[in-house]
Amino acid sequence: MRRIRASRISVTDARALVAVLALAAIGCVHESTRKQGDFTAPATRHTWAETGWEDRHTTMTFTVLPNMGRLWQKFTASDAPTLTCRTCHGQDAEDVKYRMPNPSLPALDRNRLPDASSRDPREAKWAAFMRNDVVPMMTNLIDADPYDPKTGKGFFCFNCHTEKKS
Ligand code: HEC
Ligand code: HEC
Repeated sequence: MRRIRASRISVTDARALVAVLALAAIGCVHESTRKQGDFTAPATRHTWAETGWEDRHTTMTFTVLPNMGRLWQKFTASDAPTLTCRTCHGQDAEDVKYRMPNPSLPALDRNRLPDASSRDPREAKWAAFMRNDVVPMMTNLIDADPYDPKTGKGFFCFNCHTEKKS
């Protein structure tokens, strides 16, 4: 029993170590490029709100796309990952410098957000996926402030979708 457990842990540890080293390597490259150009940049970790465009791009490429890709693949039950930067950012992603929210996604009415009880079954299914999986995972991946329904602040539908004026 013990040996099986120990070997499982060591495999996990090895994976974790590789991941940490990979992240550290990315971090080093970024730290050194930033320090050359900007001597005022603090060495401490930034929240998403304080993260600059280049670092956001890095987080998107190495953290958001692979993880969200797996989530999307599971939800759409497709054989291969289909999510790309443009799924969220639109076909003109590069031209608009990945600015969000993305007006090519369906605009949502803040007072009548689609949810699991929507009459259109497709909309209901997507809305539930968005609320239960996409919003929480994205909040975690970019380390954004979680959504607070009381204040309406934090990462939510309108970080990706535009607002439909009713
Ligand atoms: C699952 C959806 C999703 C995918 C896939 C995605 N992004 Fe993003 N991206 C976002 C969201 C949401 C924001 C804005 C977060 C916020 O509100 O600040 C963002 C922000 C950015 C920003 C910062 C824009 C700015 O104005 O500060 C860049 C750069 C970026 N993404 C690049 C990419 C790249 C490159 C890819 C593909 C490797 C990618 N994104 C994939 C959702 C996504
Ligand atoms: C990280 C970005 C992101 C967030 C946050 C997000 N969405 Fe989405 N949403 C998308 C993308 C991208 C699509 C399009 C998926 C596609 O076409 O493959 C989509 C599609 C949808 C659809 C399906 C539209 C259709 O009929 O094709 C609904 C409904 C929806 N979102 C509702 C919501 C709701 C409600 C929330 C908040 C609870 C939310 N979304 C949060 C990115 C986001």
